[in-house]
Amino acid sequence: MKRMLTGIAMCLALTTSLALAQGASPAPETKQAAPESADGRALFRTKTCIACHGRDGARAIQVFPDVAGQDKAYLYAQMKDIKAGVRVSGNDDRGYPRTQSMKDVMHLVNDEEMQKIAAFLAAAPPPKPRKPAQPIEASLLDKGKDAYLKGGCTTCHGVSGLKPLASYPIIGGMKKDYLVLQMKEIREGKRTNGKTKLMLPFAKKLTDEQIELISTFLSQIERPGA
Ligand code: HEC
Ligand code: HEC
Repeated sequence: MKRMLTGIAMCLALTTSLALAQGASPAPETKQAAPESADGRALFRTKTCIACHGRDGARAIQVFPDVAGQDKAYLYAQMKDIKAGVRVSGNDDRGYPRTQSMKDVMHLVNDEEMQKIAAFLAAAPPPKPRKPAQPIEASLLDKGKDAYLKGGCTTCHGVSGLKPLASYPIIGGMKKDYLVLQMKEIREGKRTNGKTKLMLPFAKKLTDEQIELISTFLSQIERPGA
């Protein structure tokens, strides 16, 4: 119990300081059409999500995922799984499980609200690729693409990770460190929620080096609308 409370306290402290930091430089408003999506934006901004995922879901901190421009059904399924404790993860750099830090706030949203947030995020502009301080060598990107193609990833995630099968995640243009973590935790059987088991045979074949290369390649994909 004590541990749990410490976790929540740390999470709230983090949430508050980040929310303040983000308040200082507001992001431009995103254009939204559907009313359900406008509700979703308000919910996303008031239910603490922005502390970890950025004001419009595209300026995530640390190794946390970008959620803007992601597939709607996938977003909703992941929120439900994290809320239910079905999707679990390793620890963040404070030694606290990453998915648990999100689970701690998920009592703030009900099922209908999660659907509205998913609609908002799916329509929000995706992030631009993060350029590392040192330019990435072209040969490294080629090797990453090669590993992605040979790994059979295209079947489910599409060319460059941009055209997944229905309800599967878009992985092109996501943050490199996040991609590395997910592939490793899927491979090691830590993340097993949803349709993860379909990917397991492919993930099991990946070496750490291949994961590194594929993640570098995917992280530099420019998404349409970014
Ligand atoms: C304390 C930080 C934190 C807060 C607050 C938070 N999240 Fe998350 N969220 C995370 C982390 C970390 C992950 C990824 C976990 C992992 O690495 O497996 C995640 C994952 C997700 C995913 C799945 C993304 C993917 O690509 O699989 C969605 C969707 C999501 N969050 C939405 C939300 C929404 C909506 C809220 C507000 C109701 C919220 N999160 C609040 C930290 C947070
Ligand atoms: C048979 C289909 C299939 C294949 C092949 C496949 N994946 Fe996946 N992948 C999935 C599904 C489905 C998910 C989402 C699991 C869930 O429901 O939570 C996923 C999730 C992911 C994620 C996490 C996305 C996020 O936002 O958290 C990454 C990264 C990923 N896959 C990379 C790859 C790579 C790289 C390959 C090739 C080595 C690959 N996948 C091959 C089906 C597949």
